[in-house]
Amino acid sequence: MATQQKYFTNGLLQWNSKINNRPMPWKGEKDPYKIWLSEIILQQTRVEQGWDYYNRFVAAFPTVEELAKAPETKVFKLWEGLGYYTRCKNLIATAKFITAECAGKFPATYDTILGLKGVGPYTAAAIASFAYNLPYAVVDGNVFRVLSRFFENATAIDSTEGKNIFTKLANELLDKKQPGIYNQALMDFGAVVCKPKLPLCKTCPLQSKCGAYLKGLVDVLPVKEKKINQKTRWLFYFIIQQDEKVYVRKRGTKDIWENLYEFVLIESPAATEFAQVKKTPGFIKLLGKTGLSIETISKLYSQKLTHQTIHGQFIKIKLQKSVQLEGYELVSEKKLALLPFPKFITTYLKDKNVSLNLL
Ligand code: ADE
Ligand code: SF4
Repeated sequence: MATQQKYFTNGLLQWNSKINNRPMPWKGEKDPYKIWLSEIILQQTRVEQGWDYYNRFVAAFPTVEELAKAPETKVFKLWEGLGYYTRCKNLIATAKFITAECAGKFPATYDTILGLKGVGPYTAAAIASFAYNLPYAVVDGNVFRVLSRFFENATAIDSTEGKNIFTKLANELLDKKQPGIYNQALMDFGAVVCKPKLPLCKTCPLQSKCGAYLKGLVDVLPVKEKKINQKTRWLFYFIIQQDEKVYVRKRGTKDIWENLYEFVLIESPAATEFAQVKKTPGFIKLLGKTGLSIETISKLYSQKLTHQTIHGQFIKIKLQKSVQLEGYELVSEKKLALLPFPKFITTYLKDKNVSLNLL
């Protein structure tokens, strides 16, 4: 290994054993099931938020068999707030697969782990190295950032060429005697020292040989070539109560928040205000013939998803007479509390400080 590469690996491992004290509930875990759970959760959220989700999942389902036989709504409810429900579906499917097809024994080679639904190369390398000490390097945007800076390489990290270069480098740098410890150290280093913004260069143990630092390129590296185009959507949610119940529906597939529940929705492709919403064909079709009064209109809520920015408001209305809203069902408060909602909606419910007590 070239000198600078040796310096990187040794420096990282020394930092890890002497300085790194990032606590995480799954750290040092050897049960591949629990490692897998933590990695699937961390595909979806940051460590601080994933922490409680992980603990709740492990408490509710201590083994893969228990996850496999759980009612799906219960799993979805525990997943609530993490978003991207395909991951939760894959989680359930994989738990069932391991229970039924592998007699509950977690796969123990990189290739069989990689073959699991919802498991990509990063997650497979994490599980293989943490649980079985197999020599596979974790490679993702965080790793690319650290390498791009330290090795002062300006190849775009989202280009095919960049991915190839940094992946090869990452594998050369891996300490093959302790791949689990090395991988976790690199993840931690990217999260707490060589962070995307304001990295801690002043106190960084790799500083004296870091190319980006020595050349003043820390804010320039890594380089990216693409900007993803963002779509903006406006969602107006109507909270309509009737007979001590509230109207909801399950969202379909092929859109955000797949299979999650929502209130009565009128969507607008452009910036709109409520006065305009009443004139849309969607609103007229659903509620145009019904006398109604507005009880409350929430502030504007916004949320950034990977490829979309969502804005919206929640409008509580009172209908003059009972109606049947097509495509929606009336559920009781008790049932509502068990249904999974997207974070966009639970944020509103929490702000109202009434939890799910709408009624
Ligand atoms: N991100 C993905 N896996 C992780 C882990 N094991 N620790 C910290 N961050 C992570
Ligand atoms: Fe990252 Fe700064 Fe350390 Fe270089 S000196 S590895 S840029 S934190």
